[in-house]
Amino acid sequence: MRIRAETGLPVKKRTSVLCAFCFEDANLAIGLDKLNKKIDQTISQSIKEFRGKKNKIAIIHSHKEIVSERILIAGLGKKNKLTSDIIRDVTGIITKKIHELGIREFSIIVPEKITIRNDQVISAIVEGANLALYDFDLYKKEKSNKKEPDLTLFTSDKNAQKIIKNSITVSDAVKFTRDVANLPPNNCPPAKLADIAKKISNQNKMKCTVFSKNEIKSKGLGGVTAVGQGSKNEPRFIILEYRNGKKEQKPILLVGKAVTFDTGGISLKPGEKMDEMKFDKCGGCTVLGVMKAVSELKLPINVVAIIPSVENMPGGESYRPGDIIKLFNGKTAEILNTDAEGRLILADGLAYGIKHYQPSSVMDFATLTGACIVALGTNVAGIVSNNAKLATKIKTAAVKTSEEVWELPINDDYMDMVRSKVADIRNIGMGRAAGTITAAAFLANSVGDVPWVHFDIAGTAWIQPSTKSKSYNSHGATGFGVRLVVNHLMNQK
Ligand code: BES
Ligand code: MN
Ligand code: ZN
Repeated sequence: MRIRAETGLPVKKRTSVLCAFCFEDANLAIGLDKLNKKIDQTISQSIKEFRGKKNKIAIIHSHKEIVSERILIAGLGKKNKLTSDIIRDVTGIITKKIHELGIREFSIIVPEKITIRNDQVISAIVEGANLALYDFDLYKKEKSNKKEPDLTLFTSDKNAQKIIKNSITVSDAVKFTRDVANLPPNNCPPAKLADIAKKISNQNKMKCTVFSKNEIKSKGLGGVTAVGQGSKNEPRFIILEYRNGKKEQKPILLVGKAVTFDTGGISLKPGEKMDEMKFDKCGGCTVLGVMKAVSELKLPINVVAIIPSVENMPGGESYRPGDIIKLFNGKTAEILNTDAEGRLILADGLAYGIKHYQPSSVMDFATLTGACIVALGTNVAGIVSNNAKLATKIKTAAVKTSEEVWELPINDDYMDMVRSKVADIRNIGMGRAAGTITAAAFLANSVGDVPWVHFDIAGTAWIQPSTKSKSYNSHGATGFGVRLVVNHLMNQK
């Protein structure tokens, strides 16, 4: 979407729709007062009617009383309850309305001198507008023929243009993540993800290395080998390197689970909703989106991304319950359920990345456990960490971007729950107890002391029936985590 900043008086602007926000039960819209008596009265009357309730809007025709054709007033709800996410959400509602009306251009008055910092307000508006019209129509003959409208933001912020540019880059990366995550499994085998990674590495000057099935095996990536061996679509181990920090500076490592389809393997899943397991690549897609954004923003840091990618299928060559495999970290793992495959490929990704790149910190992203949905639902991601300082930074970024996380504990008792009688560790915990944490405990065996945060995005990576609706999310993948991680990395030096 094209968005630009403008200073000066909004009421002097010839625009199809001039939009302003207002608080609940206020008598004026923010930045839209003292126009002329007639219009001022119409506006306050209209606010009285819809009361400035959150997510409600009113459109008034100006009848040439001012130069803009229409005025749109959007309710933010109670002043003392305002968050940047409300601004993001309401902006999405405005943008959808403008698009629905087929209007090609509109303007928003950025609310200033409110409880939220100017740059955060501008970012939220840009993200809300840019994400709201996302629609995955790649496989439809009939596409929406309506063009995206252009948006002008009225603001006195001198950095507005820069903030807008960065926020567009970040929200475009979210859309990119959604686009990849929404690909159907028949059109997105591991090799396709590798091609996509190569493409963004070429566009943005990153190094991309991809290991084939044979290389994966010969390098000792035993988890990826085992899970990948049951499918005709061969596994890939994808590495992206972005270096724009000091040479001696250790990189930050990102690891993303990319199971292009998870049938459960020999421990086959039930049929109901199995189609949704095309979203089991979302962790990897989030990491791809983050790398795209980081490289386009040219952040002055070093980041390495590792995306182990497999298809988990049952078949004559599949790994089985009872198998004992050797992971890249040197430990043997007893397979008790082939549907607990994500931790096996992630364990390899983490251990390989830590050994070869000696990162200063590690984050991994995975649609790892149904248990996470039981524990936290579909609006909050689970995190598990071995480092309180890093976890605090992640929680701060999560609050800023409204991509909510909740930390679950980990300790030696949980580590004991993934001990095996016949191997070093086993790939499931004890029955249903603490399934999200035991999965993380399995991963912890690959991590050691490096500061680490694990994200379980099983509930938040795509829209499920219990997902609360947001104007800037639509059917399918959400791109959860991209904004959060980029925000975290922007505050890194
Ligand atoms: N990809 C699934 C987890 C999942 C399930 C995410 C449903 C989102 C919605 C993962 O590979 C899996 O199957 N996990 C098992 C682990 C169990 C066998 C220990 C699960 O959660 O049931
Ligand atoms: Mn599974
Ligand atoms: Zn899975």
